[in-house]
This record gives sequence, structure tokens and C-alpha cells, in this order.
Amino acid sequence: MKLFIDSGNIKDIEALVAIGIIDGVTTNPSLLAKEPGDYRENLKKICQIVKGPVSGEVTAIDVAGMLEQGREIAKIDHYMIVKVPLTRAGIQACKTLSSDGIRVNVTLCFSAAQALLAAKAGATYISPFVGRLDDVGTNGMGLIKEIIEIYNNYDFTTEVLVASTRNPIHIVEAARMGADICTCPPALIDQLFNHPLTNIGLDKFLKDWEKSQAGKA
Ligand code: E4P
Repeated sequence: MKLFIDSGNIKDIEALVAIGIIDGVTTNPSLLAKEPGDYRENLKKICQIVKGPVSGEVTAIDVAGMLEQGREIAKIDHYMIVKVPLTRAGIQACKTLSSDGIRVNVTLCFSAAQALLAAKAGATYISPFVGRLDDVGTNGMGLIKEIIEIYNNYDFTTEVLVASTRNPIHIVEAARMGADICTCPPALIDQLFNHPLTNIGLDKFLKDWEKSQAGKA
């Protein structure tokens, strides 16, 4: 399973990419709005750091506007993926951009029916928002299971990009289901490393070692 960072923060992205386990980055208008500087420059920098797919989202809500912005976003760097919302206009823009060879991430997906439309429109990625579904008392990961089943039934090549992840259980369940990608905020990626028994075990190993060395001196 590929691991993407869900952030527009250059420092956080640099630090996580340096570890060597990151495959891409997703951004959205809310995330980019938090960062200083020109968003195009920031996206360009992120592409140079991660050297993998980086999603940048259109803010237009009509087809013509999405196409214009989508083509501009695609020109920023060859790693750029154009993100469009799962609306009628977004699906139409996805079909046109994908037919022109531009890779599209269809975002704000909350149902299997929506995911089916995105695959039919040639989306490279579908982004179902599991955390936001959990927030309203629905089973977010249940949606991932449904989408994977549907895509497998028809051999759709659209990759399932699990978004709005909130805890390590989302990531583990996604991997068990065979989702293609999880995008995680930096703090959640940090959580994936942690287990109290690792810390306790390491502490003991180091203390035992120190003791043995002191005895030999
Ligand atoms: C995905 O591409 C979105 O940027 C993101 O996962 C949304 O997450 P949130 O629901 O935590 O804002």
C-alpha cells in the first residue's frame, strides 16, 4: 500500500520524505490556505521533494473553470495530479482531463455510487473520506470495502486513495482490505511508528548494554 502525506507544509513533508517511506502528497484548498507564499510555488517545491504524485485541487465549480484551472495545475510539474470534487461538473471535467492524458484525483467521495462514476470518468484516483463519514455516525471503512469490491468486479484501474484518515486503525484496515493508498496527516504518520513496548524494550536493551560496558571498563 502506498503512503501519501496529507499536508501542504513543506517542512513536515521534507522531514517525512527523508525517512524514505512516502510515495506522494495530497493537498486541498484548506491545507494550502494555511501555508505562506504562492500556492503554485509551494506545489512545485513539494513535487521536487517527494518526486511522486502530488494532488492540487481546483476551486472552480463549473466545468469550464475546472478545465482551465486543472490544465494550469497540471503544468506546474509532471508529478501534479488535478483534484476535482465529486460533483456533476467534477465528473465531466474528470472525463475531459483524463481523456487529454491529465491524471485526476476525484475528491469528496462519500458513497460507492459516486466512486463508480469517478471510475467510469477515467479517474486515476478516487478519494473516499473515511473520517468525515465516521464523524456523522457512518462506517467510513465500510465504504472502502464496497468500492474495492465494485472496482474489482469490473477491473477498473482507478486507485482507491483512502482519505480523511484519523487514526492508525484506519490505515491497518485499509491495508487489510487491499486499498491502493492511504493519505495521512503528518501527526498520524508519526503515530504509526509508536508502540509503548518498543520504547520499553529499547530502553532495557540500552540500559543492559551500558551496565555491561561499565563493568568491563
Ligand atoms: C484528502 O485528499 C483530503 O485532503 C483530506 O484527507 C481531508 O481530510 P480531513 O477530513 O481530515 O480534512
